[in-house]
Amino acid sequence: MDGYATDAFDVAELVPGFRPPPQPAPGLGDAQLAEADARMRHWRDPHVGPLVPGSDRHGDATCRMFRDTFNPYRPAVLDWPRLEPEVRDRIVALPIWDIAVQTEGKARLRMAAYAGTLRDPAMRDALALNAWEEQRHKDVLACMVAAYGIDLVPEPVQRPPRDPEWAYLVTGYSECIDSFFAFGLFERARRSGLFPRALVDTFEPVMQEECRHILLFANWAAWHRARLSCLRRVRFEAKVAAVWAFLAWERIGIARAIDVDGGARPQDNNFTLRGAQSVAEGGVGVRDLLALCLAENDRRFAGYDERLLRPRTVPRLARVVLRVATRFGRRR
Ligand SMILES: [Fe+2]
Ligand SMILES: [Fe+2]
Repeated sequence: MDGYATDAFDVAELVPGFRPPPQPAPGLGDAQLAEADARMRHWRDPHVGPLVPGSDRHGDATCRMFRDTFNPYRPAVLDWPRLEPEVRDRIVALPIWDIAVQTEGKARLRMAAYAGTLRDPAMRDALALNAWEEQRHKDVLACMVAAYGIDLVPEPVQRPPRDPEWAYLVTGYSECIDSFFAFGLFERARRSGLFPRALVDTFEPVMQEECRHILLFANWAAWHRARLSCLRRVRFEAKVAAVWAFLAWERIGIARAIDVDGGARPQDNNFTLRGAQSVAEGGVGVRDLLALCLAENDRRFAGYDERLLRPRTVPRLARVVLRVATRFGRRR
């Protein structure tokens, strides 16, 4: 596997036995698209009773949720609306496209690499499908880049991680952080009117897919840790703590040139800040943004079985910051 370029594999090569979902026939009708969209946002396990983290039923429900909510849209047939020159220029100038394309490619590689190490066939398939969907996100972006003439810098070659579990944890928790803010920023962009409604609608399924991804990740993490022996559990928790420390360090910009694989990564750290600046003219109020992120986070998860676990760390931190900011704001 040494020297493997990011784009030189498909997920099935890293995950033996994985079969990509069948592609729907071109020209799905509006009713079928609407049905697939609704199915992606709502899921409930028909069995009654609790889903105890780590139990077979919990693992089974997690994997079925992910499979049943799959949306079969095809990036190649998405509509890219014609844009007024001024709007197109604004979109082309956003400083996020290189980061976005590279992040999707890296997520695909890391998820597939970790999925390939799993013995549980259902969980392996779920994580492999997640990797496959990251490739589809990359394809969506590639189609958009082509449609609007966005120039990208050449992508660095990504190599499979030496420690797939570490890399998967980094990617999973990164998605938990970035998706939380992306939900709010996306809604902010939709309300601002800075971007055409048709373009926002085209990206809507991608945003909901990220919600499914972090729902899968949160439940995989709970299922996985509950099944570890005492000693392995201690090692795993230490690794999770190290991942959070790494992500905090990375996001405040100290680790701009250091990657887990030893490669340079100058762009990832300020994705949220750049995104925030991009979707709101005149700046983004922290309180308003956090409140919107929390509301959107709750809304996007509301359709899934409440017995499945949600990512908790970032929403909790956001609530604390919001409470402190509100109290501080009242005193002034
Ligand atoms: Fe993605
Ligand atoms: Fe994702």
